[in-house]
Amino acid sequence: MTEVVIVSEIRVGLIGAGSIAQVAHIPNLKNLGVPIVAVADAVEERAKQIAQQHGIPHAYGDYRQLLKRDDVDAVIVSTPTSTHYPIVTAALKSGKHVLCEKPPAMNDREAEKMAELAEQQKLVLMYALQMRYRNDARAVKKLVEQGEFGEVYFGRALYIRRRGAPGGWFSRKELSGGGPLLDIGVHVIDLTWWLMGKPKPVSAAGFTFQKIGAKGLRLDRGWQPADVREKLEQEVVYDVEDYAGGFIRFENGAVLLFEVSWQINDKDRWGSTICGTKAGASLPPLELYTEVLGEQATVNLRVDEGNAYLEEIREFITCVKEGRKPLTDAYDGVTVMKMLTALYRSAEQGREVPIK
Ligand SMILES: NC(=O)c1ccc[n+]([C@@H]2O[C@H](COP(=O)([O-])OP(=O)(O)OC[C@H]3O[C@@H](n4cnc5c(N)ncnc54)[C@H](O)[C@@H]3O)[C@@H](O)[C@H]2O)c1
Repeated sequence: MTEVVIVSEIRVGLIGAGSIAQVAHIPNLKNLGVPIVAVADAVEERAKQIAQQHGIPHAYGDYRQLLKRDDVDAVIVSTPTSTHYPIVTAALKSGKHVLCEKPPAMNDREAEKMAELAEQQKLVLMYALQMRYRNDARAVKKLVEQGEFGEVYFGRALYIRRRGAPGGWFSRKELSGGGPLLDIGVHVIDLTWWLMGKPKPVSAAGFTFQKIGAKGLRLDRGWQPADVREKLEQEVVYDVEDYAGGFIRFENGAVLLFEVSWQINDKDRWGSTICGTKAGASLPPLELYTEVLGEQATVNLRVDEGNAYLEEIREFITCVKEGRKPLTDAYDGVTVMKMLTALYRSAEQGREVPIK
């Protein structure tokens, strides 16, 4: 990464002007004073409206027009998962640094090709796995690195929504690649794996259910993609899982156990837990399971979550400026996609499968 050209003032283009771009990326770019030069969205009217609302000089209905601009140094890709690979590939080929939304891709092969291309092009490719930018997560990571937990041999990742399927393209497999495992599982599995010290995954066992499906959809609440919010969605398609569970085994003998759901008759909750030979921790809220004066103690550390979306953008811009590898870099995206792809393969085959 040392040969990356250092650009003094990074100018950004947005590809995808839907919900996450509007809720997180545009406000945070503005907070950090990063100029947004252009926006592109397949719904051209949306691109134009967002451009007008935020004083963005150029708007396009075709992202390739945006990529032709010499005054765009870096792009943020916030489009449906099936478009990540073609858009990120085109962006890297046109010399732009990329921050791409999660999940990185439809599968591990796409993620691998994108990481290799970014390396060849000597450009930053970062994924929006923003859980790692939370203050509480960083506090645990620091303690793990200081050896406070001893050997970390077990992790648990949970993201249970009782009813929380976003609908729209999210529940269409050809556009999303999968349901809650790819949508929210990617966040908690990545966070827990990172806290565990990023051990090398060797096998995975997963199972999925689709028992509630389209009849449980509540499109009037929860996360709404732009087409649902603007009532442009014509037809409800729901051909992904409602729930996924399973575990991943690592080369060092450690195991990560997880459960994720968009729809299940269970309690809403989410969190990440890691357990080591000397201590353990979970968040949120941030708790340490340790010993004080030889007795078991639960310590509540007063660290709030902070603004992970803002820190994610700061990391991206800093890495582009300094030619540094981001915390959530392209190859971590590959490993995460290897785990998720193997979990789906395992669920299909009904047995534990190797990860290469
Ligand atoms: N990091 C997070 O916490 C988080 C939260 C929500 C969504 N996301 C991710 O962000 C991405 C977008 O999700 P969203 O909820 O904003 O969806 P959305 O549907 O609201 O927005 C996607 C936008 O992309 C546009 N689009 C589709 N195909 C395009 C193309 N080929 N070229 C240009 N624009 C195109 C759509 O018209 C839409 O405006 C997804 O990858 C999703 O998983 C991340």
